[in-house]
Amino acid sequence: MKFFVDSADSEAIQELAATGMVDGVTTNPSLVAKSGRDFKELVAEICDMVDGPVSAEVTAIESEAMLKEADELLAIADNVCIKVPLTWDGLKATRALADKGKMVNVTLCFSANQALLAAKAGAAFISPFVGRLDDIGADGMGLIADIRQIYDNYPELETEILVASVRSPEHMRASALIGADVATLPPDVLKSLISHPLTDKGLDAFLADWQKSGQSIA
Ligand code: G3P
Repeated sequence: MKFFVDSADSEAIQELAATGMVDGVTTNPSLVAKSGRDFKELVAEICDMVDGPVSAEVTAIESEAMLKEADELLAIADNVCIKVPLTWDGLKATRALADKGKMVNVTLCFSANQALLAAKAGAAFISPFVGRLDDIGADGMGLIADIRQIYDNYPELETEILVASVRSPEHMRASALIGADVATLPPDVLKSLISHPLTDKGLDAFLADWQKSGQSIA
């Protein structure tokens, strides 16, 4: 399973990349706006930090204009993945980019049928937003399970399921159990995956006992 970082905070991405856990990065217009950074400079910086796909989202809403923006973004680095919204124009742009061998991440997916359309358009990734579905009382992880089953029913669909809008370690656990291909995690959620109070307690006890033994290894 691949771990992406969902962030436009280059320092946080760098810190996590150093752990060897980061297979890619996703950004979106809201995260970029929050960072206050120049979009293209930021994407170039992130693309240098990680070898895997770095999703950069177009903001045009009409397919021709999306493709123009995609050209600009693709010129930044070889690992740029173009992110487009799940609209007919987005799917049209997806097909055009996929036909040129470019990676596309189709975002703002909230239904299994939308995921099916994105796969038929040739998307490299589909991004279902589990947290936002949970927010409105729907079943975010249920959608991931549905998409997994649908894609498995049709092996010719090669789109990877990229679980997005991940809010908690439980979303991660459930994604892995279902067999999602990728999860994109905000830095704080990724960091929290390691936490368990019994690990901390156990380590404290080991270290205290070791100190009492008076020994040292190196
Ligand atoms: O990058 C898209 C997605 O992960 C957004 O998450 O928390 O804004 O719903 P959130």
